[in-house]
Amino acid sequence: MVVAQDLLVSENNANDHFSKIAPNYKGLRTTDFDHIEYIKKLLTKKSKINIADVGCGDGRYSLEILKSFENCYLYCIDFNENMIQHLKQYLTEQKFTNFCARAGDASKLSLENNSMDSIMTFNAIHHFDLDAFFSESHEILKDDGKLIIYTRLRNQNYGSIWGEYFPQFGDMENRLYELNEIKEYAKNADMTIKSTRVFGHARTSTLERLVQQAKGNHYSTFALYGEETFDESLDIFQKNIQKNFSDLEQITWHDENILLEIVK
Ligand SMILES: C[S@@+](CC[C@H](N)C(=O)[O-])C[C@H]1O[C@@H](n2cnc3c(N)ncnc32)[C@H](O)[C@@H]1O
Repeated sequence: MVVAQDLLVSENNANDHFSKIAPNYKGLRTTDFDHIEYIKKLLTKKSKINIADVGCGDGRYSLEILKSFENCYLYCIDFNENMIQHLKQYLTEQKFTNFCARAGDASKLSLENNSMDSIMTFNAIHHFDLDAFFSESHEILKDDGKLIIYTRLRNQNYGSIWGEYFPQFGDMENRLYELNEIKEYAKNADMTIKSTRVFGHARTSTLERLVQQAKGNHYSTFALYGEETFDESLDIFQKNIQKNFSDLEQITWHDENILLEIVK
């Protein structure tokens, strides 16, 4: 049974993890754009909109939001101070001024009630206290506001190259949700999932790059392994890949994520 103390320890580990990888985060992750194009169509046109990006990390998707919504003011919030520092530098270098960024918890966003047209969160809900995040979102969103969650579900994680070939990866990542679980959280906060859309991405990589990503802990899941277990698992992963792919310069697989549009 997971108790509060275990959760606290694992979240502290996660925060250490994000502090360490903040300088290299963008280089380690694969950034997609199709879900951003889709989000553009979901928000109604207004002359000025307020958007919050919660769990914004180093700002790779905050930048895409700023590019997509010229009429927005963006509130970037992340638990990790290092990520926020990198985000500020990144967005400022890109000459954006219509944003603010601060360290904060998804459970207590410290934004005015009924103030946001949209709250967005990318690849982060599995780190949040989801009950608290939903009830905060309910308070902070305007009546016609939208909570947009982009995540991978537990079953989608099992289907990734890591889930298929890296020992224990799918089981180790027990923080992810299934759709019916997220539905329950929404319902408890008096919110409803209005639409869902699955995004599939055909990936190609080299074994060298995959090993570099795992060693760089591009998914926080890797930080959950002990050092020795990680080394052994990485070894097995490489053997599995060698066995299943003839060209180690052209490893191909299919990733999936889901986008949820949630309303009050
Ligand atoms: C996997 S990263 C995703 C970052 C970014 N959204 C992206 O897709 O590039 C998850 C982020 O959530 C942040 N995070 C974890 N727990 C949080 C919490 N309780 N409140 C706010 N942010 C949190 C982490 O610091 C990290 O930057």
